[in-house]
Amino acid sequence: MKKIIMFAAAILIVSVVATISFYPSVAQSQKTTKSLTTSIPENVKTILQNSCAKCHGDNGSGMAMGVWNLNLWDTYKPAKQAKKANAICKAVTNGSMPPKSFTGAKPTATQISEICTWATSIQVQN
Ligand code: HEC
Repeated sequence: MKKIIMFAAAILIVSVVATISFYPSVAQSQKTTKSLTTSIPENVKTILQNSCAKCHGDNGSGMAMGVWNLNLWDTYKPAKQAKKANAICKAVTNGSMPPKSFTGAKPTATQISEICTWATSIQVQN
């Protein structure tokens, strides 16, 4: 009889621990899935297309495409998208991109803020 009680107590403890450790991960994975987006919204895509894709797009510069390629964006894993989006926001904010030598359209202040709003929105996971 004592053994049965011990056994029941052990099962109870195990299931409580299992429940506690299981729930936060479920909550987190739901949050992650919800916050992720695999495609760039149209407004931001247009900006990147006009100001960046000449180098960071198919037939662009090899070095630039190695850093990020607009045409391959949807194939990047979520963590990579978040990291690249963050770097993109930083680069346009500090003015290092597009390079000074680039003669095409430079993003305006409004466009930079659109890029960074998007970048921030996909940084929830990790
Ligand atoms: C004229 C070609 C060219 C254009 C246009 C261009 N880039 Fe780049 N970019 C490069 C090259 C080449 C590299 C890799 C070498 C380096 O880091 O300077 C690079 C690197 C980067 C990097 C990684 C290095 C860093 O500074 O963090 C980011 C992020 C980036 N570019 C963002 C952008 C964004 C955003 C735009 C558009 C607003 C853009 N680039 C437009 C050529 C370009």
